[in-house]
Amino acid sequence: MKAKNLAVLGLQWGDEGKGKIVNFLSDRADAACRYQGGHNAGHTLIVEGKKLVLHLLPSSICHQNASSLIGKGVVISCEALFAEIEEIEPIANGILDRLKISPACTLIQPYHILLDQLKEKSNSFTTIGTTLRGIGPAYEDKVSRKAIRIIDTLSETKLNSKLEETLSFYNFLFKEYFGEKELDFNEVKDKNLEYGNKLSPLLADVSNEIFTMNKKNKRVLFEGAQGALLDVDQGTYPFVTASNCSPAGIASGAGCGPLDVGYILGVVKAYVTRVGEGPMPTEIEGSLGEEIAKKGGEVGATTGRPRRCGWFDAVSVKRIIQSNSVSALCLTKIDVLDGLENIKICTGYDEDESKKAFAECMELEDVNPSYIEIEGWPEPTAGINNYDDFPQKAKNFVEKIAEVCGVPVDIISTGPDDASTILINQEI
Ligand code: GDP
Ligand code: IMO
Ligand code: MG
Repeated sequence: MKAKNLAVLGLQWGDEGKGKIVNFLSDRADAACRYQGGHNAGHTLIVEGKKLVLHLLPSSICHQNASSLIGKGVVISCEALFAEIEEIEPIANGILDRLKISPACTLIQPYHILLDQLKEKSNSFTTIGTTLRGIGPAYEDKVSRKAIRIIDTLSETKLNSKLEETLSFYNFLFKEYFGEKELDFNEVKDKNLEYGNKLSPLLADVSNEIFTMNKKNKRVLFEGAQGALLDVDQGTYPFVTASNCSPAGIASGAGCGPLDVGYILGVVKAYVTRVGEGPMPTEIEGSLGEEIAKKGGEVGATTGRPRRCGWFDAVSVKRIIQSNSVSALCLTKIDVLDGLENIKICTGYDEDESKKAFAECMELEDVNPSYIEIEGWPEPTAGINNYDDFPQKAKNFVEKIAEVCGVPVDIISTGPDDASTILINQEI
């Protein structure tokens, strides 16, 4: 039986191919919902042969029959949102009629972006390699209860008092700590009022929208951004993003009950990539890593930075599956491994049994990964959309991934477009 709602999330360090899969599955849902992160995300899909990169809009946006929801857990840069709508509208047609945004979303402000940039370039702070889009500072404001939310931009009086409190704090920081220029209150306020006006027709109680849809037996697809290893609580802290991008973030960020997501599809690449700083135990140094990066087009969809490549790390994926009720895997980019003689899968972090598995607060810089080796396949898998046509050795790889991770592989992706997809579990 099909689950009431479903979720598609990355289980690694992001860029697993979530956008392609959400677009592929959108026919099976009545709405898609982004519930955390912001325009640090870059989700690539191919629609009618054209490549689109989405940062804030759900990847269902080109499906005329699905509505697009942005839940309260998302931090929104209005500038980025409206630029994206303008860019995508000619292909997606009628975006503004299908898009609903929670008025409780935190707005990314110019002072968030400035602080993100100043901290990243200062020697006094650990360099995280952020996307410099103000994501961390915006979430900091949210949890320290001084965020400007969309709702605050609808009343000038309310905005004035909130912005006075917040901006005076930031301006003190910019001037006294960083020795930078202060931001102009009126400029920031006017922009917020202008965006509040533009956002106003798009606002809806997203939590209630989901509840009402479910009551009518309609399905919602929750689209994760980033990946579980970048989750602020479950990831490789401090080299993480500022939100809960593991399944734990769905209920709070979208506004539904934790039991409302019946099926959680964890998207994993056949290898692993990471952009920005932070440990990556299975990183492949040298020419092989570069070859995989080149073949896989591993360049950041948001920042254009090169992505580091490594072997599939089953230790971290297994841990994330275990602590997040992940139902099944979607294995992407297997075609990138076509033609390799041998392929490695990391199954342990140390010979010593007690340090073999992923553990809370583990120093990933110090682990000593052990691998199993699978024979590669000389035949191409690129573009195959029927599992029966898969080379036997590629099937062995898929089956090994399912075995070491302990959940089935329900979807395999063999290329960037929808046609290059194998739906193994028809019940999704
Ligand atoms: P996301 O952030 O998880 O949506 O992933 P990105 O869009 O940042 O990065 C995934 C990249 O791989 C994009 O360029 C996709 O077009 C591409 N892609 C997705 N699935 C496949 C696949 O199965 N094979 C290949 N070769 N490319 C893929
Ligand atoms: P999608 O949704 C890969 C990384 C950044 C940095 C860290 C913190 O496309 O998978 P931030 O700007 O969020 O404060 O940066 O998180 N990061 C991503 N890496 N894919 C993403 O999104 C990412 N979003 C943030 O590179 O290491
Ligand atoms: Mg991406």
